[in-house]
Order: sequence, then C-alpha cells, then structure tokens
Amino acid sequence: MKTSEIRSTFLDFFRSKGHTIVPSSSLVPASDPTLLFTNSGMVQFKNVFLGSEKPGYVRAADVQRCLRAGGKHNDLDAVGYTARHHTFFEMLGNWSFGDYFKRDAIVYAWELLTGVFKLPADKLWVTVYHTDDEAYDIWDKEVGVPAERIVRIGDNKGAPFASDNFWQMADTGPCGPCTEIFFDHGADIAGGPPGSPDEDGDRYIEIWNLVFMQFDRAPDGTLSPLPAPCVDTGMGLERLAAVLQRVHSNYEIDLFAHLIRVAGKLTGTGDLANKSLRVIADHIRACSFLIVDGVLPSNEGRGYVLRRIIRRALRHGWMLGVRGDFFWKMVQPLVEEMGVAYPELAAKRALVEEALRVEEQRFGETLEHGMRLFDEVAGKSGKIIPGVDAFRLYDTYGFPVDLTADIARERGLEVDMDGFERSMNEQRERARAAGRFEAKGQMPAELASQLKPTTFLGYDALRSQGSKVLGIVRAGKQVDQLAEGEEGLLILDRTPFYAESGGQVGDTGELSNPAGRFEVGDTLKMGGVFFGHAGRWHGGQPLRTGDIVEASVDASRRQAIVLNHSATHLLHAALRKVLGDHVAQKGSLVAPERLRFDFSHFKPMSRDELAQVEAMVNAEVRRNAVAEVHNMAYDQAIEFGAMALFGEKYGDEVRVLKMGDFSTELCGGTHVGRTGDIGLFKIVAEAGVASGVRRIEAVTGAGALAYIDDEERRLGELSQLLSTSGDDAVEKLRQLFDKQKKLERELDSLRSKAAGSATAGLAGSARDVDGIKVVAARLEGLDAKALRDSVDQLKQQLGDCVILLAGAADGRVSLIAGVHGKALGRIKAGSVVAHVAAQIDGKGGGRPDMAQGGGSDAPDLPAILAALPDWVSAQ
Ligand code: ALA
Repeated sequence: MKTSEIRSTFLDFFRSKGHTIVPSSSLVPASDPTLLFTNSGMVQFKNVFLGSEKPGYVRAADVQRCLRAGGKHNDLDAVGYTARHHTFFEMLGNWSFGDYFKRDAIVYAWELLTGVFKLPADKLWVTVYHTDDEAYDIWDKEVGVPAERIVRIGDNKGAPFASDNFWQMADTGPCGPCTEIFFDHGADIAGGPPGSPDEDGDRYIEIWNLVFMQFDRAPDGTLSPLPAPCVDTGMGLERLAAVLQRVHSNYEIDLFAHLIRVAGKLTGTGDLANKSLRVIADHIRACSFLIVDGVLPSNEGRGYVLRRIIRRALRHGWMLGVRGDFFWKMVQPLVEEMGVAYPELAAKRALVEEALRVEEQRFGETLEHGMRLFDEVAGKSGKIIPGVDAFRLYDTYGFPVDLTADIARERGLEVDMDGFERSMNEQRERARAAGRFEAKGQMPAELASQLKPTTFLGYDALRSQGSKVLGIVRAGKQVDQLAEGEEGLLILDRTPFYAESGGQVGDTGELSNPAGRFEVGDTLKMGGVFFGHAGRWHGGQPLRTGDIVEASVDASRRQAIVLNHSATHLLHAALRKVLGDHVAQKGSLVAPERLRFDFSHFKPMSRDELAQVEAMVNAEVRRNAVAEVHNMAYDQAIEFGAMALFGEKYGDEVRVLKMGDFSTELCGGTHVGRTGDIGLFKIVAEAGVASGVRRIEAVTGAGALAYIDDEERRLGELSQLLSTSGDDAVEKLRQLFDKQKKLERELDSLRSKAAGSATAGLAGSARDVDGIKVVAARLEGLDAKALRDSVDQLKQQLGDCVILLAGAADGRVSLIAGVHGKALGRIKAGSVVAHVAAQIDGKGGGRPDMAQGGGSDAPDLPAILAALPDWVSAQ
C-alpha cells in the first residue's frame, strides 16, 4: 500500500467513526511560546484539552506534519543511525475531546490495524503505564492480546510520571498515561521487546501511541486534572508504511526510496544504503516544510534549528564528495512525492529552492576551511575536541556545535561541550560589555521604590498643564534641584512626551514654569515604567522636586515621527503580502527624518518587488482608512488577527492598531488619525544588514516630498551638464558611454601598436647567453600595461628568453621582467626584477614567468641594463 493510500485509508476509517477531518497545522505553533515546533498531532488542540477553546466537534482525525529537532522531543542526532528516526515526519492521529476514552480508543486502533490494514495480530505487542489496570484489562480481556505480549512500563526516566508510557507535549501542559502498540519486524532484525534491555534495536518498533490525556502539568511539576479526560493518538506514517510495504526501514518506503535515488544521483553515490543519503533525504523534508511554514535560516530560535539541519545535510553531501551545490535540487523531487498531500509545498517550491540555494552557497564558502581546521584539531587533540576549537568552528566557519559533535562522533571523538559553552559565554560577555548602555537611563533604585509609574498622556495630547516633577536624576544620582545651565533627567507624574520604545524615538520639546524652562532633548524609559525627560534647565531660580511645569512636545517633529510609524506598519503588511509570510520584523527605528525597518528575507528585493510594496502602501494611504486603536487582552488580540513579534514580551492588556483591513499589529507607539495623513510613502534604500535580514529605509509626508525635490534637482543638474531635457538624459548618457567604450577600444589598439613598434628593434638586439636570448632596454613613455604587451610579444618572437623592460616616465621607471621557454629552468622573472630594482632604490616580484616592480630613473640605469646578459650568464 502506497504512503498516499495509507493517509486516505486512515482518514476514511475515522470519518466512518464520526470524526471530523481537520487539516495539518503549521510546523510553527500559532502563538504558543512554550513550544519551538509542532512536535505531535495534539499541538493544535492544546487549548481544547485545557478547556479554553471549543472547536465545534468532539471527535477529530488528521495527518499532521511534525518536527522533532530541538526542544523537548529532539531526534536530530538519531537520524541516519536508526531505521526509524526522523526530524520531520507525519503523524496520523485521532482525538476525543471529552467523548470516548480508553476502551473505544483501543478498540478503534485494533480494528484499523488488524481489520483494515490486515496486520497479523501475533506480530503486535502493547505496553501500558504500570498502574493503568483499566487499559491492561481492555487489551487482555476485550481485545484478547495474550498476556506475554502486554508489557507494563513504569517510571523509567528518573522521576515520577517520567516514563515512556506517560506522555507530555512539553515541560508544562496537557499530559497523561499512554498505551503503545509495537510491531515485531522479525527475528532477523536485532533488538528486544519493549521494556527489555535491548529495546532500542530496530526489531520491535512502536507504531502507535494512544495517550489518555488527563492532566495539566504546571511548571513546578504538579498535575491537575483536565476539565474532561481526552484521547490523543499518534501513529508514525513512515513506520506504518514500512510495515505495510514489508520493509524493515522507514527509509525503504516508496516516498523515501525516490528521494534517496535522487540524492544518490546528485551526490554521485551508487550505494543507496549509504547512511548519508538517508540523512539528506530526511533533512530535505524538514528544511522544505520549515521554509514553507515561514522559517528562514538565521542565527537564533527556529531559524537556527533550520540552519543546523541544512548544514548537517550539506556536510553529509560533502562527505559523499560533493563540492558544488546539490541540496536545493532535492526540492522538486520532494514536491513530486508530497505536493499533492501538501499543496502549500508545491505552491512555495521556488521560495524553498531559493532559500536553500542561498544558504548552501554561504556555507559552501566556509565548509571546506572548517573541515580542514577540524582535521587539524582532531589530529592533535586526542579523544576530546577542545571547547575553544569547537567555538572557533562555530564562530568563524559557521559549524553549529552539534554538527561538530556529529563529525566527532563519526571518528570516535567527543567535543568538550562545557568548554564550548564557556567560550560562548565569554563572547556574550564581551558583546554585552561593548553594548552596555550609558548610565543615563538608569533609575536610582531608591527613587524607583518611592514613585508611581508615569502616566502617558501623549496618545491624545501634545501639551499638558500641571505636571509635577517627582524626581530629578543627575549623573545617575537622585538630586533635589537643577541650577541654571545644569543637565539632568526629570521624572514627571504625567506627561505627553513619548519615551523611546518599540523603535519609536523619544520626543523633544519644553517643560516650563514662571521660573524658567527645561529644554527636553530626548525622552527615555527608566526602570521600564518611568519617563525620563533628558535636558537642560534655564532659569533664574533652580528647578526643584515638587515644582509644577507645563509640558509641550515639539509638535511638528512628533507629527513627522507619527507618519513614519504608521507607514512602518503598512510597510510590514505590504512586505508580507508581496514577499510572503516568512517576513517578520527584526528591528525598526522610527525617527522624524525617516523610518528604518529590518525584516527576515534571504535575498535582495528586486526593483519590481520594491515598486509593488511602495505602490501598495501608497494605495492604502489614499484609501484614507481610520487608524483604530483597541485595548484588549493579549489572547483576544491574537484572535483579532493582530501580528505579534515572536520572542517579544507583552503584558496581559495590549494595544492594537488596525488600519483598514490591511494592517493589524500590537503597538504601544503613537500613530496617525487616518492613513491619508501619511501623504506619500517613498522607499529610499534596501540593503542586507545580516545574514537573512534585509533593511528598508523610507520617508513619508513632507520628508518624501523633500526627497523627490532633491532627486529632481539632481536630474536637472545632470540634464544641464548633458545639455538636454530630463526626458532625454538617459538616452544621451547611454550614447556617451557607448562612445567612451569605443574610444577605449581604439586606445587599446593604438597602445599595442605603439608597443609593437617600440619593441620592433629590440628582438634584433638580443644577446645570446648559452642558447638563451637576453634583452634589457629602457623605453620612454610606456605604461605598465604597454610594457607587459611588449614582453609578451618579445616572448613569442624569441622563444627561450629573459627580458627586462624599464618604462620611464617623470623620473620613475616601471620594471617588467619576462622569462620564457627553457630559460625558466635557469632563472625566475622575480629575481630578474629584484636584481635590477635593488640597484635603483626600488623593489619588485611576481610569478616565475612574469614579474614587475619599479624604482628611480637612475642615471646609471642604461649601464645596469647593459650588464644584465652577464648577470644572467653567471646564474
Ligand atoms: N501525542 C502523542 C505522541 O506524540 C500521541 O506520541
């Protein structure tokens, strides 16, 4: 039975038992920060188990794509070493949400395996959690599995409820006891039954896990009952396929056989049982689906896991002798195998290929050097690869440490992981020290404990009366007052000044009272919740704690910032629409002059893409939608469709900014009233800032007009220089370039003619030294290129020869030496140049057959040249 039929048979069976079929969710769990990847079918139902989500059905089944490479469930290291482990795999699952429980789950599973798939019952073994008598009895009494094939498994992982038969998704969340079904591949495969000392072999393979979800595990390890007991099952598609296709390794099933054949061809490997081919075939699935689901190679989080998997695959290709790129070429065959079941894979083929190709080229540049370093280190370090070397491989050559460990393991070596961590920490420490903020934003602890957080009025107002100075900080210390001309940070009880955060710069302006005015040059957050106004006091009397001031923000500067901030949101949304969902914000700066937006994308944007993005943003500007602000709970905001940044911490209550149907984002910044306020949006630069991260800079409103004015002025100057109108400037310039190229060609040919005539007489003047012709001459006014041409021509004419030409201009000479034919056995061009240069205060060197140098145009140069044949003869 083919893999594709197994998928549909499974779903049909559970459909006939009243289950709703749901699609596979993404490998990137939707807004679940506790989990790196979807590692099993139940992930998308986590909130259903916990009772906070009601899906409208109580029974469901699906085929879920899963990844176990990083996080609690990690099989990366096992791939290639066993017949049954993968990073990426498909899980067939059925669920009951408070509906059926142990009995039906077990009976359904048995019916499907033995009745539909026709597996021989005597090849099946089962395990139950040691205290789960209920499950034991169902297997024993109702299903009739003989007692010798029912195994009780206790807490075999060193803690209560830590067992192969107690399943949990992560360190916290839904969990419960499980019963597992194993298939016996036969006595000719090594390995023992579950629970035996050699259970890790490939003979008895777990194919299906039925979990009885009963508890929610808290971070401190306590288990509390779920609102209703549920069933969560997972059967590895690849393992089942191996059983049904009567092969003993997952890598021999139809789907993998094709991928392995292609990998063999691409790497020139005839032995299709080679372990590296399996690794490559496994990894292309993981990498492709990660990219489909919006992950791109990077140096952190999910992107780094992807990078590690890609690099591991590339290293295996390298072991097979590949020196160019090959991995991305596996995408098309993968689409042929899986594109029907996963149309999103087929749709994003080009993106996946491109992302892999770029990464492949990047690592290709350092892989070879890294391998050389590894060999060197391995040669001299005994059994353990020192941590500092593993770190150098990581830092300089991009070898993830698990890749180094993998290579080490193949050679019976180990990596000093603690040492690696130490080097890594030292580097982090250095980076931190270099980037440490100036003390000015630090809040004296004692002051922080006395004050209430600052109230921000600036969403609606730019001026306010009656703000009270609660604290003054000067040079990091709390003071009572500021005298005339002194600088400091003022903390007010309430303020319309925006303090720098979320990329938006702090406001400037003025705080004043009858005694004077405090000029605010910046506003920053102190201790997270206090707004510090940084600036200088000008007043006849000192400014004191407790004083009341009137606050007024520089309104035109703030307005320019606001336009840029709202435009940043529109830009973010437009980038995702034009480039794809993999675009995620990596950083932003919203200043009055311009906005800067960093985002994940792996290659430069084309002119066309930039034009599309710009046009899309401007269309939204003209649509003039109201920028709505909603305050709501975080979960509600995510449901509302708001974009949150991965890795960012948000409070329980968040602010959501929605502009038309185009952009919805969580944001604490200040924004326009309507998108039309932005006026005009213009991209001024696009460039790469780090691997996989691009940066766009853009201007808006009056800034955009000023930018266009400036461009227009430059075009005007250009047209004037070209004596033409702006419309014809490009054509005119093109003609000028063509003309220049033609002139350069003519000049070249004239030069070589000049060299020809300069050297015409030289061949005749050659002196014979032991059958070698020696020519040495000083030529007036020839540059280095013309001299080289002359040397080449002389070599052709003279055959075995030594030539030295000195081109004189403005008191200096350039020297070119050429050695040809059997003269090469006697002398090198480098030594000829060095010999002459040494006598005229100069130097030189080069290849054995051609070298160059220079020196002063000394009066005795002719004599030095005349003596060259004798010198050659003495060599
Ligand atoms: N969630 C269970 C597993 O992944 C079914 O094994």
